[in-house]
Amino acid sequence: MTRVILISSGKGGSGKTTLTSNLAASLAQLGKDVIAIDANLTTPNLGMHVGLQMPAKTLHHVLRGEARIREATYPHPLGFKVMPASMSVDDLKNVDVGRLPEVTVNLIGKTDFVLLDCAAGLGREAVSAIEAADEMLVVTNPEMTSVVDSLKAVDLAKRRNKKILGVVVNRKKNRWHEMPNHKIEDLIGAPIIAEIPEDPYIQQSIHLKKPLVSMMPDSPAAVEVRRLAHWLIDKPFEYEYPEEEYPTLVHRLAKWLNG
Ligand SMILES: Nc1ncnc2c1ncn2[C@@H]1O[C@H](COP(=O)(O)OP(=O)(O)OP(=O)(O)O)[C@@H](O)[C@H]1O
Ligand SMILES: [Mg+2]
Repeated sequence: MTRVILISSGKGGSGKTTLTSNLAASLAQLGKDVIAIDANLTTPNLGMHVGLQMPAKTLHHVLRGEARIREATYPHPLGFKVMPASMSVDDLKNVDVGRLPEVTVNLIGKTDFVLLDCAAGLGREAVSAIEAADEMLVVTNPEMTSVVDSLKAVDLAKRRNKKILGVVVNRKKNRWHEMPNHKIEDLIGAPIIAEIPEDPYIQQSIHLKKPLVSMMPDSPAAVEVRRLAHWLIDKPFEYEYPEEEYPTLVHRLAKWLNG
C-alpha cells in the first residue's frame, strides 16, 4: 500500500524540507521504498538539500506534460528517490499546479511512501499539495505565529477529509517563551508525534547536502527524525543518547560529583 504524506506547515521556514529529506532517508534505511517530491514549485529547496542540482527533468516538466514521472525521478545514494522541482523562474510558465494529484495517483502501488514537501503559505500550490496527499504531517515551531499558521493548514486538510497524522514540533529549545506542548495540541487539535530539538548540525548537513540522519545519525535532531520514521511504520525505537558525545547538564553534573 502506498502512503502519500504531505509535510506541511502554513508558515515558511519551519523545517518542512529538512524533515522531508531526513524522513525519506530514515524510511529508506528501514527498507522502505520512498519517493520524495518537491511540491514547492515557486521556491523549491529539496534538490539542494540532497545534492541534486540542475536536474534535466523536474516536476515542472511532468506537470507540463514534457516528461514522464520516471524521467524526473532520481535515485539518491541513501536509497530513496527524489523528484525535484525546477529552480528556473522560466519553468514557472504554463505549469498547472492543479495537476499534482495526478502525479501522486500515478505513483500508487509503485512505492511504499510518497513524501510531498509542501510550499509555505496556503495558496494554490499548497492547496494542490493537500489534495494530492492522503495524510498530513504538520511541522510547526513552538511559537504562536507558527502554530496559528499550521492550524490553518490543518483546517484546509480536514475540510478535504485528509488524515492528520500529527504535529512535529521543530527547533525546540526549551526556553520559557516557547509555547508548551499542551497548548500546541489544543490549538491545532492534533497530537504531537515528534519533538525535534534545535540542532546546529542541521545547518551543517544542509550545507554539505547530506541528510543529517546519515551524516550524524546520533545527533539529537537525527535521532528524533529516526524515531518518527519508526513510528510511521509502527516499529519500536529504543535509543539512549551516548553520554560522552551529547552530555546533558545532568550527565555532566553526575560525572563531576562522582569525580
Ligand atoms: N531542528 C533544527 N535545528 C536547527 N536548525 C533547523 C532545524 N530545522 C530547520 N532548521 C533551519 O531552518 C531552515 C529552514 O528549514 P527548511 O528549509 O527545512 O524549512 P521549510 O519549512 O522547508 O522552509 P520553506 O517554507 O521556505 O520551504 C534550515 O535552513 C535550517 O537552517
Ligand atoms: Mg522548504
